[in-house]
Amino acid sequence: MSVAKKEYKRITVKSLVEMKQNGEKISMLTSYDYSMAKIVDAANVDVILVGDSASNVIAGHETTLPVTLDQMIYHASSVVRAAKRALVVVDIPFGSYQSDSKEALRSAIRIMKESGAHAVKVEGGSEIKQSVIRILEAGIPVMGHLGLTPQSIYKFGTYTVRAKEEEEAHKLKEDAKMLEELGCFGIVLEKIPAKLAKEVAESVSIPIIGIGAGGGVDGQVLVVHDLLGMTHEFNPRFLRRYMNLYEDMGNAISQYVDDVKSRDFPNENESY
Ligand code: KIV
Repeated sequence: MSVAKKEYKRITVKSLVEMKQNGEKISMLTSYDYSMAKIVDAANVDVILVGDSASNVIAGHETTLPVTLDQMIYHASSVVRAAKRALVVVDIPFGSYQSDSKEALRSAIRIMKESGAHAVKVEGGSEIKQSVIRILEAGIPVMGHLGLTPQSIYKFGTYTVRAKEEEEAHKLKEDAKMLEELGCFGIVLEKIPAKLAKEVAESVSIPIIGIGAGGGVDGQVLVVHDLLGMTHEFNPRFLRRYMNLYEDMGNAISQYVDDVKSRDFPNENESY
């Protein structure tokens, strides 16, 4: 089904709800730096997520846990300088909102004030209810994240599909309803059965953005390095690679090395 797209000068949390109401799918992609965010924004991606996946793809950590609030603010402020149209959402990193709601609010305020971002994202449901309430009360838009929540990887033990069992699926549905009622503007659902994700998307009025959650939701999010094929060792079933930059960049850089060694680079035209 093709849907008439409305032109937006700047995507806001309200535009996203409008898109859901109009049946227009929402595109969301990560970025962590100015140059990448400029390309992503110019390609009309609706939402740029400064994800704590920066911990993996930028810093090379095994999990998202080590990235700090200061580092997220640095990434976010670089992205904000590039984004002219997209809504910029920033992950509050592990350890910056779980201990109490006042700490959560302080972290959210630091992100908004120091980076200029437009919204924050937090992982979890009822466990972080008070933090979500406090951040929202300060006028900061909040996006939820349910299903596979990578900040809890040591509790899960694996990165496999979540909420396959009835009990976990039931809690996820309750959490989604709760986040909507509290006033979140959207929810990311990661790696859960497509049928469950569709059911959640149909049961709430706020946009549900999926990653490994099938096509029945309101939008999709991917890590930009995965989409571009820069992270060639990460091959989950949900990932569609649009390029193989790992190989293409490697070939270009090898060619540069050869050209330097063979004295082909620089030539006369490339010299002063
Ligand atoms: O950190 C991140 O990139 C994310 C997406 C995978 C949704 O949270």
